[in-house]
Amino acid sequence: MGEPWRGERRFRFVGDAAGGAEREGLELRVPEVPDPQYGMYAWPCAAVLAQYVWFHRSALPGRRVLELGAGVSLPGIVAAKCGAEVTLSDSEELQQCRDISQRSCIMNQLHHVPVIGITWGRISPQLLALDPIDIILGSDVFFDPKDFEDILTTVSFLLEKNPHAQFWTTYQVRSADWSIEALLYKWRLKSIHVPLHSFSADKEHLASSSLPSRHTIEMIIISSATSDGT
Ligand SMILES: C[S@@+](CC[C@H](N)C(=O)[O-])C[C@H]1O[C@@H](n2cnc3c(N)ncnc32)[C@H](O)[C@@H]1O
Repeated sequence: MGEPWRGERRFRFVGDAAGGAEREGLELRVPEVPDPQYGMYAWPCAAVLAQYVWFHRSALPGRRVLELGAGVSLPGIVAAKCGAEVTLSDSEELQQCRDISQRSCIMNQLHHVPVIGITWGRISPQLLALDPIDIILGSDVFFDPKDFEDILTTVSFLLEKNPHAQFWTTYQVRSADWSIEALLYKWRLKSIHVPLHSFSADKEHLASSSLPSRHTIEMIIISSATSDGT
């Protein structure tokens, strides 16, 4: 972890929960390093997925969560703070992105959260050794169409081993031509669209941050097409 940590971004999640109107809050800090590597700062999608996790926090204690392409890991950090058993991951080739995940954990007093190398599309010993999972998180992982099939290969592998798990993912609409529909069909997966207003994320400011701004962000839940969803 030799890189100096030059900045940080703060988030504050309050109120808004599925099925309740609790007025509790959660304050987090994540590192922010100006760097060509995409994982070194939080992306707008991360604030939206973290809000979804926060909104469903009452369901999280004891749930086993894996974040893919985590970078600074805002959604995974929220899940861990809400009582989930979280594992964070980023590419095996991008040590600095795994280091910043680790740094994010330390900044939020989450010293027990493991950070591992998982490269999309690679059935590695790390992937094979994973414990059972209930929820997979992925924020802004669908940012380059060349990776779409690799991501879904990994997700499909995990959902085959954990048939009742779900992949909660947010993506930024960068081109109307990009689609994962055919790949979902090929890998026997299905998706449902989750409207942002249904979890209070239809805002330019979220968690006291202007990160979502005017970006168009969508949230979907991907699961196995052959599972009955129970
Ligand atoms: C656009 S960034 C999103 C980071 C973070 N999830 C967020 O939303 O703030 C994409 C992330 O995917 C990771 N990544 C890129 N290629 C990958 C690959 N082939 N396997 C696993 N992770 C990868 C990057 O290191 C980076 O953390």
